[in-house]
Amino acid sequence: MIKNVVLIGFMGVGKSSTGRMLANMLGFKFIDMDKAIEKKYQMTIPEMFEKHGEAYFREREKEMCREAAARKSVVIATGGGTIKDPENVAILKRTGRIICLSASVDSIVERTSGKGTRPLLDAMEDRRQGIIELLAQRQPMYDQADYTLDTTDLSPMQVARDIISYMKHR
Ligand code: S3P
Repeated sequence: MIKNVVLIGFMGVGKSSTGRMLANMLGFKFIDMDKAIEKKYQMTIPEMFEKHGEAYFREREKEMCREAAARKSVVIATGGGTIKDPENVAILKRTGRIICLSASVDSIVERTSGKGTRPLLDAMEDRRQGIIELLAQRQPMYDQADYTLDTTDLSPMQVARDIISYMKHR
């Protein structure tokens, strides 16, 4: 059975742009978990953090992991913190191959420089230092992936091609 493809990794590594392209190339449906949560609850992620707090968002995220993992032939782009919860990792691993995208701190800082879309980053006093610390804290979780790919110097198309070639040789 061809497994789902689950993209994990820190904010700004290209999970959504790569995921969309990869899904097109594989003829799979694409599920962007954050977008799906926003659609289901009719509110943006920053609004959800603001109104209900992070813990509420994490519960919605777990639900979405279950819904997404129950589908077949899908590419799933997780949020940067989805894999903090080991249960989410277990749920996603049951039906999917876990691919971690990584990138240099410089490119993460650059790619996430916009304000108003990522509440965790907006709350940081020193964004660069905050990113370095959060990344270090989460690294052991990202290391649980079946395959990791550094996207710093790659386009979403190149990343998608690399993942397809990895999937073929499994
Ligand atoms: C988060 C990453 C975000 C989003 C939420 C929390 C995180 O997703 O799920 O703001 O904890 O790293 P992206 O990785 O798509 O930015």
